[in-house]
Amino acid sequence: DLLDGGRKPLAGRRAVVTSGPTHEPIDPVRYIANRSSGRQGHAIAAALAKLGADVTLVSGPVTLPDPRGVKVIRVDRAEEMLAAVLGALPADIAVMVAAVADWRVATENTEKIKKKPGEGPPPLMLAENPDILKTVGHHEKRPKVVVGFAAETQDVENNGRVKLQKKGADLIVANDVSPETGIMGGTRNSVKLITAAGIEQWPDLSKDEVAGRLAGWIAERLS
Ligand code: CTP
Ligand code: CA
Repeated sequence: DLLDGGRKPLAGRRAVVTSGPTHEPIDPVRYIANRSSGRQGHAIAAALAKLGADVTLVSGPVTLPDPRGVKVIRVDRAEEMLAAVLGALPADIAVMVAAVADWRVATENTEKIKKKPGEGPPPLMLAENPDILKTVGHHEKRPKVVVGFAAETQDVENNGRVKLQKKGADLIVANDVSPETGIMGGTRNSVKLITAAGIEQWPDLSKDEVAGRLAGWIAERLS
């Protein structure tokens, strides 16, 4: 896999990748989370490393093994994920694949919340989590290539275009994750690449194939 006259195309480049869900504690035994296996994010970290990049993977709780040749930082909460990502800057490449929980519980409950018969369920006050992609996309140490994902269940192209703009990304990899597609938790993915230049639909591929192609796209963009 030596390309370009024996030199790997991402040799000497630093990359930071987020993957998996975040877990936002409600109390010591409960949490709020998004659905995410981490498969796509982990595959991208591995694919960038294969092209020679020095990769830091910031991963929420997943059951996957650490990809080979990648520095892995494990976190639980969105705020920890943001801190680890900022700690990995400066970098040339940021690929934010994590399914970050949009909200955390506003007040920390250090003791388990007990059911109180007759009182009904406890009210949960939520606070908005930091937007990691948006922070990186507008950062003074903004990487040269910033990639985000947009997992949607409707209006994929429009939602993706809005996210490209709002988050300061160079590319949004958008997909339809409606339950009937089987993409969530599965090994295959069908994505659209949304850039300022337009929209490109990729065929139905394995998540590893999407990762390999995306790493190639990033290498070309940097060259
Ligand atoms: N993202 C992030 N930090 C957050 C929320 C999202 O870094 N707090 C990143 C995701 O990793 C992904 C992109 O932003 O690359 C889009 O995530 P998504 O959840 O689709 O976007 P949101 O802006 O949260 O919008 P919504 O959930 O309302 O569709
Ligand atoms: Ca979200």
